[in-house]
Amino acid sequence: MSRIFSDNESQTLADIIRLRRDVRGNRFNDKPVSDTTIDTLLNAAMLAPSVGYSQPWQFVVIRDSNIKQAVQQTFVTANALGSQQFTGDKRAQYDALKLEGILEAPVNLAVFYQPSETAVLGQTSMPEMGKFSVVCAIQNLWLMARSLNIGVGWVSILDPLKVKQALNAPESAELIGYLCIGYVDEFLAEPELKQKGWQKTKSPAEVIFKDGFN
Ligand SMILES: Cc1cc2nc3c(=O)[nH]c(=O)nc-3n(C[C@H](O)[C@H](O)[C@H](O)COP(=O)(O)O)c2cc1C
Repeated sequence: MSRIFSDNESQTLADIIRLRRDVRGNRFNDKPVSDTTIDTLLNAAMLAPSVGYSQPWQFVVIRDSNIKQAVQQTFVTANALGSQQFTGDKRAQYDALKLEGILEAPVNLAVFYQPSETAVLGQTSMPEMGKFSVVCAIQNLWLMARSLNIGVGWVSILDPLKVKQALNAPESAELIGYLCIGYVDEFLAEPELKQKGWQKTKSPAEVIFKDGFN
């Protein structure tokens, strides 16, 4: 018989989902993250749903500080360009934000999409579905990490080609996510970008519609 979860277990999952946070460099601490723990996170990632069960993900575990530094350099350049897309107070607010933890996190993880060379069931009319499957894997990993009280921060302000170069990635692999992973001193109760007034939380009424967008 399939396993039935208790209300308590269900509540635990709800808590993990609610209390998951994006963790940036100012919150990682020095506690080492073992290879076994990283394997636990990767196993959670590899249990994600994927279109046609294609499992189109590839993971590169990074502990090498030279690689981290090369990636962090691409962040600095990309972040300066990112900042220019905002004006006035918003740019000042942007510039005050810490938006990565590449050097502070003991482990970085680059997550790639490796497209299949043959047709994939379910991906024949919406080609992005392969990449979305990789995002599902990242979310699994993120929640598993939170359950182990490990912080994860997703850094997307990067030059993906430079990251690929730093990792000797094959041309066919597409960078989907670059994650910073480590134990933390604290998890914020709410998204930092909400706390700092960058974005408000959308209400259910703004995003949920019934029987069409009416
Ligand atoms: C696809 C994706 C890319 C993201 N990229 C960045 C990033 O480059 N820098 C950053 O500080 N946070 C990044 N984040 C984290 C979001 O800012 C964060 O998830 C959001 O503010 C909500 O906060 P929470 O994750 O703590 O609930 C990213 C999140 C996602 C899902």
